Amino acid sequence: MKDKIFPLAGDMVCENCALPSSTIEQISKEIDVIVSVAATTSFYERYDVALASNALGVAHVCHLANKCGNLKMLLHVSTAFVAGDQEGLLMEKPFKSGESLRKGYNLDIQAEIKLVENFKSKLRMQSSNDKLEKKKMKELGLKRTIDMLYVAYNDQKLPCFIADHNVISDMIPGDLVINAMMVSMAIHWDQHGGQAIYHVTSGHRNPLNYSITEESLYEYFHANPRVSNGGRIVKNKRVLLFKKYTHFHLYMILRYKIALETLHVMSVFGGSFSKNYNKLNRGYNFLMLVAKLYAPYVFFKGCFDDTNMRKLWATTTDKLNEDSMFDCDPACINWSSYLVNTHIPAVMVNSRNANHMKKANKIA
Ligand SMILES: *[C@@H]1O[C@H](CO)[C@@H](O)[C@H](O)[C@H]1NC(C)=O
Ligand SMILES: *[C@@H]1O[C@H](CO)[C@@H](O)[C@H](O)[C@H]1NC(C)=O
Repeated sequence: MKDKIFPLAGDMVCENCALPSSTIEQISKEIDVIVSVAATTSFYERYDVALASNALGVAHVCHLANKCGNLKMLLHVSTAFVAGDQEGLLMEKPFKSGESLRKGYNLDIQAEIKLVENFKSKLRMQSSNDKLEKKKMKELGLKRTIDMLYVAYNDQKLPCFIADHNVISDMIPGDLVINAMMVSMAIHWDQHGGQAIYHVTSGHRNPLNYSITEESLYEYFHANPRVSNGGRIVKNKRVLLFKKYTHFHLYMILRYKIALETLHVMSVFGGSFSKNYNKLNRGYNFLMLVAKLYAPYVFFKGCFDDTNMRKLWATTTDKLNEDSMFDCDPACINWSSYLVNTHIPAVMVNSRNANHMKKANKIA
């Protein structure tokens, strides 16, 4: 395998993915399949960065694909969030160019680019506040997508949050996605023209609700108690959950805001008052921001239909025998076991490694 791998550095936000024309000339004759998976999946991405990679970047990949004379297939992977906040059963169908998720609106990509440019030039004239905010966000570790919540709980920064136990959080382990990609390539690579859409999702076949997530989180930290900086074992508390954002907000005002106002007055005396104020204020801002960012996902009312995916899977079980290496059936997942034994431990290891890296960088 290694002999067949040729890494080429490129950048999808640039035309031709920043590859020199001689390289394009060479690879365009050899490429059979382009797999496009590059994107930013941060929940807190700057609009200009998101637009450049997730919209224009895809266009650049498509242009490159057009130059590849022997290309059999372009496989593009997007996240579930292309569905926006639609409700009900979401079918495996393509979006039309210019189609907007908001009814009665058109998406004009040129207008979006202009908007970003105008906004950026305005920002450049403003103070350095923007930089400060960005730095703050980085400190909060908001680049960790949904797993950030587990990390925040581990760091004792998540005493309360928003969740609706009936809502399905559509999760899918990465290896099932890879399998689905392999199978779709094997099936479609020689079908000229045409387009197929697959939802590699779990909500329809094997729904994971927030009760299971919450229970799994509790169970994991019961078995692996958290340890404070001082080496004390932290009590395993349940996160106080609110079904409605307004209730959460009200609680935050009662629980934090009033205490904050009081501490703020006292902080003129400095010392521990001032320290407590800063700590509480950071906690308050963190929770409010995270709740705002996650609300659309926490309250997502759509369910992804996966009829095409199941058909694809059915054809491969015939072709590839029963015990396939390319299992992509989400029904086989035991969610609590997966979360407790696989997912949460992996997130914890990842976050510890990231922390070590941060410390090492600081020392360096
Ligand atoms: C969540 O899913 C589990 C397992 O499928 C089920 O037993 C439970 O009733 C569900 N809870 C809610 C609130 O829907
Ligand atoms: C899922 O895994 C949990 C924990 O390992 C176990 O207690 C439970 O019985 C399993 N559920 C099913 C349906 O196999």
